[in-house]
Amino acid sequence: MPLHPATRLRDEAATTAEFAADVRAGLARRPKRIASKWLYDARGSALFERICTLPEYYLTRTELAILREHAGAIGAALGPQPLLVEYGSGSGTKTRLLLEALQDPVGYVPIELSRSALADSIERVADAFPQLAVLPLCADFTAPLALPAPPRRPRRVVVFFPGSTLGNFDTREAVALLARMRRTIGAGGAALVGIDLRKDRATLEAAYNDAAGVTAQFTLNLLARMNRELGADFDLDRFRHRARWNALAGRIETHIVSSVEQQVRVGGRRVHFTAGEAMLVEYSCKYTQAGFERIAARAGLRVECSWSDPDGAFALELLRPP
Ligand code: AVJ
Repeated sequence: MPLHPATRLRDEAATTAEFAADVRAGLARRPKRIASKWLYDARGSALFERICTLPEYYLTRTELAILREHAGAIGAALGPQPLLVEYGSGSGTKTRLLLEALQDPVGYVPIELSRSALADSIERVADAFPQLAVLPLCADFTAPLALPAPPRRPRRVVVFFPGSTLGNFDTREAVALLARMRRTIGAGGAALVGIDLRKDRATLEAAYNDAAGVTAQFTLNLLARMNRELGADFDLDRFRHRARWNALAGRIETHIVSSVEQQVRVGGRRVHFTAGEAMLVEYSCKYTQAGFERIAARAGLRVECSWSDPDGAFALELLRPP
């Protein structure tokens, strides 16, 4: 399908320069930390797709089941002729289910930092919905956004933010992101946000420490990406993946732990790691319904409705400005 004239794909070099700057700043922090958005290069995105099918990783299949079960109610609540904006472009299965549930959508705007992931998602959606205007945006959805104009005037803007990706942000950042989302949807818009709900430690830790070791590969790919893109020399055998439930903070915290004392070269600098030193690479916050409603309220959004699975493992939250 020919891309709409508003389509602009960002220069890959811009992303690499931002990655380099972020890594440099993150390695200078104590404790060291690197933002989880950098986990999703082409290989990271492919590994994440595999995570979504793992028996321990209940999130994806549960969210899909909720979408299937409540598609009619969700479509009706979101209303006719929406412009659907998706934060992150995922595998496309959730998008397809939501698009099928929507009444006469005027366009679909996937927003994604990874060009390869964006290209894949455009193709999947364009194949399944040949009449739909697909207006991809290669951008960071945590930064201010200018939405491309669809060929037909939308009745409302609907942001879809599935997967509990909101959980990657700490509470302050999540409030800021939701507040930005509120500006994007405007007074008449709505947002559909997937959140993972709190549950027992064993279930949560198993989801982030799968027996097949795919999550470990996904996490450690961040080191391989630095080697590929920044000319770093991380030895992946000298680091390990660690994901633990922090009950007090209500989140899974994923670290890359240095197994030995070592020096690594990153972008022409020497970086020192002590034996056992942990570098933070991801938060996956888990919510209570009441806690999520408080976060939404701080961003000026009201939870109008929420759909969950029978076990209460995961929820889709419908948000609107009050
Ligand atoms: C895509 C951010 C929702 O935190 O559960 C999966 C990423 N990391 N396994 C999550 C992830 C390790 C995932 N999100």
